[in-house]
Amino acid sequence: MKKTTIDNVTIINIPKIIDKQRRGNLCVIENNVLPYKVERVYYLFDVPSDASRGGHSHIACHELLVALSGSFDVVIKDGESTKTVTLNKPDKGLLIVDGIWRALENFSSGAVCLVLASEVYDETDYIRDYTAFLKSKQ
Ligand code: TYD
Repeated sequence: MKKTTIDNVTIINIPKIIDKQRRGNLCVIENNVLPYKVERVYYLFDVPSDASRGGHSHIACHELLVALSGSFDVVIKDGESTKTVTLNKPDKGLLIVDGIWRALENFSSGAVCLVLASEVYDETDYIRDYTAFLKSKQ
């Protein structure tokens, strides 16, 4: 596995079309926005405010997380450093590369987390044990 760090996790600006007639905003994600082809889309919703999602890293999968509605915190770890990123804008995405531990917390009421993943679902791509994750980063 590549030794990615939390510095490799970036905010992506999603192109936004602001309607001249004030009919609201439209964001569009085409192939040029992401450094990978999207193979899977899923979303989290109705997450209780005291729940924690994620709690894993991926061996190969990259994911773009977008707060389509509401807000939540993403805690990212690379085994040495930790950072918390709050997502609360539908035109900003957090691009989490492979090899980064993530936990999603503090979901606001009505929050929706959209995920655009580079791989199809494959449980063998997950590291769900933090000690095993730390070992994978050595
Ligand atoms: P899990 O990875 O625990 O969700 P999160 O990381 O958001 O907390 O996944 C919850 C369940 O859903 C688990 O049984 C695996 C399943 N799942 C799929 O079947 N396909 C998918 O694309 C994802 C993301 C999860």
